[in-house]
Amino acid sequence: MKTIAIITGASTGLGREFTRILKDKKEISEIWAIARHREKLDKLRRQMGPKIVPISLDLSDAAQITDLGHRLAQSGVEVRYLVNNAGYAKFCSYGDLNIADSLNMINLNIGGVVAMGLTCIPYMPAGSHIINIASQAAFQPLPYQNLYSSTKAFVRNYTRALHVELKDRGITATAVCPGWLKTDLYDRANIGAAKATRNFFGMTTPDKVARKAVADADKGKDLSIYGLYVNFCHIGAKLLPQQTVMKIWLHQQHIDPYSRPSQQ
Ligand SMILES: NC(=O)c1ccc[n+]([C@@H]2O[C@H](COP(=O)([O-])OP(=O)(O)OC[C@H]3O[C@@H](n4cnc5c(N)ncnc54)[C@H](OP(=O)(O)O)[C@@H]3O)[C@@H](O)[C@H]2O)c1
Repeated sequence: MKTIAIITGASTGLGREFTRILKDKKEISEIWAIARHREKLDKLRRQMGPKIVPISLDLSDAAQITDLGHRLAQSGVEVRYLVNNAGYAKFCSYGDLNIADSLNMINLNIGGVVAMGLTCIPYMPAGSHIINIASQAAFQPLPYQNLYSSTKAFVRNYTRALHVELKDRGITATAVCPGWLKTDLYDRANIGAAKATRNFFGMTTPDKVARKAVADADKGKDLSIYGLYVNFCHIGAKLLPQQTVMKIWLHQQHIDPYSRPSQQ
């Protein structure tokens, strides 16, 4: 029986680093690498070798995840790692996104994570790992990244509770909370909104976060946080009132919530 890892958003950024790390594990015979754009996945296979199985899917569409479930049922594989990494942000106010755009982010960042877990868990033996990518943005409400940070708070809470519920199956679930990473996320996030995130403190590279996340998952931890700055923010968000943490965030981002967009 083939033992595989499934990685969503595998073609670039953080997902690409998970692919690089997990393909080197002896017990993994295939990596099912998922993203929307086939050409980037084909390039990944050319660069990382034949263990990479490109699968082009839009994970904001639950029907396409159902198709993946049929493929799993027919393939007779065991899923040793599921990395739910595909996700995106928009740096803007609630009103800069229409209903379809707002729901699409929820469908991918939340719906995709839940549906992929439900699809894959039946094929995961004891000793397997789910790694769900949340964010530092999950630690507190973030005005002007309101929707994104709320989706990531869901992922963090859902994953930690899932970790407990999966104990009887011997499967672990780890919520990964990275700070700012040098990836392509910003191409999709920056939409030219009047009030938007512009300061990216403590930015690091995705390889370090992926390496720590896999090590933490292998140790059975339910939370993975890389770096002093992000750990500091994690503790600060626990100790300070949320109103205060939001004020600090707005100050860092030079955003005045009372100013009208035309005055900026
Ligand atoms: N970058 C940061 O500062 C940062 C910080 C904290 C957390 N994160 C989280 O880390 C994760 C990875 O982000 P990244 O920074 O590596 O971003 P990225 O470089 O933009 O990568 C996103 C990946 O997801 C895929 N993807 C996007 N929409 C998809 C969809 N609907 N269906 C399937 N695949 C989809 C993309 O490929 P296609 O476009 O071809 O679909 C790509 O492979 C995200 O969950 C993000 O929220 C990032």
